[in-house]
Amino acid sequence: MMYEGCKKYIPFKPEYIPDRTWPNNVIKHAPIWCSVDLRDGNQALIDPMNLEEKLEYFQTLVDIGFKEIEVGFPSASETEYEILRTLIERNMIPDDVTIQVLVQAREHLIKRTFEAIDGAKNVILHFYNSTSTLQRKVVFRMEMDGIIKIATDAAALIRKLSEPMIAGGMNLRYEYSPESFSGTEMDNAALICQKVIETIGATPQNKIILNLPATVEGSMPNQYADQIEYFIRHLPSRDCAIISVHPHNDRGTGVATTEMALLAGAERVEGTLFGNGERTGNVDIVTVAMNMYTQGVDPHLDFSHINRIKEMYERCTKMVVPPRQPYAGELVFTAFSGSHQDAINKGTQYMQESQSPYWEIPYLPIDPADVGREYEPIIRINSQSGKGGAAFVMQHNFGYDLPKVMHAEFGHIVQVETDRVGKELPAERVFELFKEAYIDATYPYELLRHSFQETTGADGKSHVKFCGTLRHTDTTFDVSGEGNGPIDAFFNAIHGQKMDRFTFVDYKEHAISDGSDSMAVAYIQLRDKDGKDVFGVGIDHNINLAPLRGILSAINRAWCARHRKANA
Ligand code: KIV
Ligand code: ZN
Repeated sequence: MMYEGCKKYIPFKPEYIPDRTWPNNVIKHAPIWCSVDLRDGNQALIDPMNLEEKLEYFQTLVDIGFKEIEVGFPSASETEYEILRTLIERNMIPDDVTIQVLVQAREHLIKRTFEAIDGAKNVILHFYNSTSTLQRKVVFRMEMDGIIKIATDAAALIRKLSEPMIAGGMNLRYEYSPESFSGTEMDNAALICQKVIETIGATPQNKIILNLPATVEGSMPNQYADQIEYFIRHLPSRDCAIISVHPHNDRGTGVATTEMALLAGAERVEGTLFGNGERTGNVDIVTVAMNMYTQGVDPHLDFSHINRIKEMYERCTKMVVPPRQPYAGELVFTAFSGSHQDAINKGTQYMQESQSPYWEIPYLPIDPADVGREYEPIIRINSQSGKGGAAFVMQHNFGYDLPKVMHAEFGHIVQVETDRVGKELPAERVFELFKEAYIDATYPYELLRHSFQETTGADGKSHVKFCGTLRHTDTTFDVSGEGNGPIDAFFNAIHGQKMDRFTFVDYKEHAISDGSDSMAVAYIQLRDKDGKDVFGVGIDHNINLAPLRGILSAINRAWCARHRKANA
């Protein structure tokens, strides 16, 4: 049996809290954010960042607004040590930013870490040891008492080594992580953290950060949230701690885990940009922050130039932000489906008409402009796109506002082409199809010369006389006609010709700007004797001439269609 293999996995044992409160909460304000890009993210890269890349990345994190940044593991390697020293010695750390350094709960590494932070203004010293049932059994082969001793010995040493630093003016705070917290019995997790609080001397005025990692995400987000609520309720010195979470993404639910943990009382979040990090990554802070933003909560992080951040990220980490990554992916503000395109069109129109102060566009949970992405095509054309999509592209990319009655016909022309080529059509190709179908329909009838004479009668009404020369294949002939406007006069002029199988139904005209030149475009709807509508489009600098070209375009298109049919 193919799926028998699943029997070897031990299911997660949820913490049972019958009176849990977190599901009733909502996120009303941003947590404290801590970026671990330069440590957890960096350690997971195929090629970890070099000094210059790390410095550039650090600067971007500062610009985004991170006030706590884990810059590395300075006792782990010379490179890590050097990066920290460079940041301190080049004075690159703003006064309102705290750098965080990670160290295992081991004496020689702690001592080396203290050397590394010398001279820094604001520091969080982050120490950790692993506490999960599995790690205790297979890695440390130790009972919980031994694990607690590792943590408290480290806490005592850190407290001692801190004294001269604090006396020297450093704003030094502590963070303790019971690594693999989510795989630890919650009573044990609360116990070890309480012992650390007592040993390090945390107080309500000088709190320790207790960081509770889902080092390997092994449960559903609600189960992690239960753990957080349980832990908080069972920590005796809760008022001496800031509760932080550090979710990884092994089950692909890091964002949900983080959001539910915030509901359950977490006050601080550690994560990375775009979710870089070990294995499936750390939680993606961009998504968590922007999710808050779309609920009307200011995340206090600035992602208003997401493409710039993405470019830096991809260059420095050599990782790729996938096209469907929330908020940042290339395709996330694009609709291919016809019904989605139609709804976006209607939403955009509604926003314009209603002047609504709220964002009310279906299929777009956020205004792309809010992450600096307003210039990208929201609607792209493939074989799934509908009639509204092609019209949207014509309007948004080229300024042609096709009348609604033309959408279906032009949409069909575009769809035939997407089916033929079997792939997405760029906007330029959509325009070419429009031009070929309508504007270039100048055969067999073409207007060679024309003149208008306009007079106003005693009743104030205008009267127009049109005279012109038309070419039909290779013969030319003159026409003239009168009417209450240029279109009427022209239509009357051609009426006696073979072109009189049509009646005029409607037209729409607007200006388009073509470089420095302004042009008029006219969309014409005629109806033939069989009741079939035919459309034409004319463009000209002269607003009186554009509709005449549109009429000829419609007549020519009908003529070509008849001849194609006759020759088929
Ligand atoms: O994932 C983890 O548990 C960590 C700790 C070192 C905080 O990165
Ligand atoms: Zn981690």
